[in-house]
Amino acid sequence: MTKRFYVTTPIYYVNGAPHIGHAYTSIAADVLARFKRLDGYDVFFLTGTDEHGQKVEAAARTAGLETQTYTDKISQDFRDMSDAMGVSYDQWIRTTEQRHKESCQALWKRIEATGDIYLGHYEGWYSVRDEAFYDEGELTTNAAGAKIAPTGAPVEWVKEPSYFFRLSAWQDRLLKLYEENPDFIAPSSRKSEVLSFVKGGLHDLSVSRTTFNWGIPVPDAPGHVMYVWLDALTNYITAAGFPDPAAEKWSYWPADAHFVGKDIIRFHAVYWPAFLMSAGIEPPKRISSHGWWVVDGEKMSKSLGNVVEPRALAKTFGLDQIRYFLLREKPFGADGSLNHQAIISRMNVELANDLGNLAQRSLSLIARNCEGKLPGKGPATAEDTALLDAAYALPDLVRAAMDRQTFHEALEDIWKVIRSANAYIDHQAPWALRKTDTVRMAAVLRVLADTIRAVATLLQPFMPDSIGRMLDQLGVAPDQRTFAALAVPLEDGTPLPAPQGVFPRYVEPA
Ligand code: MSP
Repeated sequence: MTKRFYVTTPIYYVNGAPHIGHAYTSIAADVLARFKRLDGYDVFFLTGTDEHGQKVEAAARTAGLETQTYTDKISQDFRDMSDAMGVSYDQWIRTTEQRHKESCQALWKRIEATGDIYLGHYEGWYSVRDEAFYDEGELTTNAAGAKIAPTGAPVEWVKEPSYFFRLSAWQDRLLKLYEENPDFIAPSSRKSEVLSFVKGGLHDLSVSRTTFNWGIPVPDAPGHVMYVWLDALTNYITAAGFPDPAAEKWSYWPADAHFVGKDIIRFHAVYWPAFLMSAGIEPPKRISSHGWWVVDGEKMSKSLGNVVEPRALAKTFGLDQIRYFLLREKPFGADGSLNHQAIISRMNVELANDLGNLAQRSLSLIARNCEGKLPGKGPATAEDTALLDAAYALPDLVRAAMDRQTFHEALEDIWKVIRSANAYIDHQAPWALRKTDTVRMAAVLRVLADTIRAVATLLQPFMPDSIGRMLDQLGVAPDQRTFAALAVPLEDGTPLPAPQGVFPRYVEPA
């Protein structure tokens, strides 16, 4: 049976327009989804929008639109953004869909039946911006003397009847889950953070609200809507067909990786597995969290006017260039700063010079000196073997890095081979061999073509369009681009199309 792989992005709040931070989570998940498909997995890649809660309701009011009309509009904008950024999701979920309401209510009933939900009264701090409850001890005071959440978000005192989830009873079972599944939370810095939070003792969690209506009704409890995070997290099983155990997609559960920003790790690594285990459902296998992007060193904010629109950025620099930059510039788990100079430098040095020139030089020499046909292999020298061995070692190296979500390391492994190939071409100087030893020239060009093919095959998930064109120029048929296909040599004499540069240098508009 084909191996399955289920990967998700967070579902995005529809309280404002999509920005580069949202695009980043989706592109990272997309790269992994594409990688797994090329590696022979049957992939289910889910993304969508989180449409309930006070924050969304307030945004609709500000926009002067009926809430559903407003969420339809913003959800579509997120979907357009995802399409524009090449996010190859298999399903787009919206929490306002009927199937999701049924799924949330079914999950609620299961948890309630175990005794883990009880009716009480909530009195405490709530942040609408974070849609999160905070303990007094977690708060600080801002310059104006107001209490704020650790995220800097304003908080308000709320007092209302509420259903609670008995999270306090789950401490030991959560700690056991982390211990038995050392890869459950990545990276390790986040894991320590979660462990200390859980070890510090867990309070029961308020899971319903009565002061607004924009949510999923709690079954048999008029006036109560579900806490938006219980509703939102459930999307991951709704999409897999919950509560129908016979659903075609249910076999993908448990998810292999939930991609999340560091700000929402607690919801995914603590609340979500507790809800699921309480309902007798297997928890996901991994929560992979990433750091935040700031812009020119500043946090993105509407008031600073520095919010980066992903489609605009792709228009300026190219989509594949932006996808590459986002995954290359900083380690996945760390924070990073986005600025145009850094993008241009990656484009010109790594894409145009290192990779683009390597392909263009090699392919033009083949076009001019081998009648535009892929030359056959010659007797291998030590240098040939060293380069090809490094290229063929890449799938295993890159696979291991992708499984850790260390995308920048995967790219660095690939770039080591690209740099070696550039050193090889300079040293072998096939342009000089043309006059002295055409047989050796052909052999050198074949080594280069094979190396570029291996590199390009692995780079497809990062830059699907540009690399697709590079593989066209190498004469690799579209159905021969999987990692397994690398084991089958390209056919000698394959006619190659006229080479065309794939990665142009960025030139500042005059
Ligand atoms: N709706 C919740 C998620 C529910 S998942 C069951 C939510 N939505 S969000 O729209 O606010 O954020 C979605 C994702 O975007 C999060 O993973 C968050 O970390 C990410 N980012 C938002 N701003 C970001 C940056 N500036 N940089 C990187 N990612 C950031 O949270």
